Amino acid sequence: MKKIILAFPYSKELGKKLAVRLNAEFSVVDIKYFPDREKLVQIKADVKNKKAIVVNSLYEPDEKIIDLCLTAATLKDLGARQITLVAPYLGYMRQDKRFHKGESISSKIIAKIITPFFSKLITIDPHLHRYKSLNTIYKLKTKVLTANSLVADYIKKYYNDVIIIGPDEESYQWAANVAKAVGVKVTVAKKTRLSSRKVMIELKDKIKLRGKTVVIVDDIISTGHTMIEVVKNIKKQKPKMVVCIGVHGLFVENAYKKLKDIGVDKIVTTNCIPHKTNDIDVSPILKKYC
Ligand code: R5P
Repeated sequence: MKKIILAFPYSKELGKKLAVRLNAEFSVVDIKYFPDREKLVQIKADVKNKKAIVVNSLYEPDEKIIDLCLTAATLKDLGARQITLVAPYLGYMRQDKRFHKGESISSKIIAKIITPFFSKLITIDPHLHRYKSLNTIYKLKTKVLTANSLVADYIKKYYNDVIIIGPDEESYQWAANVAKAVGVKVTVAKKTRLSSRKVMIELKDKIKLRGKTVVIVDDIISTGHTMIEVVKNIKKQKPKMVVCIGVHGLFVENAYKKLKDIGVDKIVTTNCIPHKTNDIDVSPILKKYC
């Protein structure tokens, strides 16, 4: 079956890369607004009897979810088959329990909205903390990929004498696997989250960082406070260089500048979310499963 990649304007670059790797047709979904701000999507390519692969990274997700639902339903109407969602960053995963009385468990609700429109979901390093698997909430065929090997290759290519730090227990799955692939030591800090903009970090192990290249690895850099607190902690030990690597760089509220201002030498992300720090391309791992 012929494949066609349908990307939204905000996921165009990654969509294009994927189309080239798959040797697939590529089309950008047209999005317009009516005067009252209702949306109208338009698919300009011929999708009949083709396998449709929709690329939509769900950062700042609310509008993008509407685009997604309108597009997937239209694809079906137009005769596309096996409609796959490639959401390299799958938003709405962190609210995975009711932290305070009366709060919605958004991850479950959003999964229920998206699921019926697609036959398959492919994502990269989703924030699976309290959920053991993505299928707990997404009741369709899923493929969860990890950028760990790409992150490890990047570190091996550019740095020597490295120590890897994961900012909290949740980051162990990334930090430890990356460290193993690079063949270096890893330590995981203890994080206490006081609010969405305030965290406390404590380095548990007495690991020597002086003169080393310290690479902090996490799944998400959002407000940057997690990274900032780790950096403040390790700077006391005078490492040679501090590198922050996030699979998904959301960089909200000036996070990138804040990290630069406290003296982070290099900030690196994958192109799951477009940003100037995108030094790691995830299209090679997506290709295998599309
Ligand atoms: C949370 O548990 C994640 O793994 C990240 O550490 C977190 O999302 C980073 O958020 P922020 O940059 O706002 O501290």
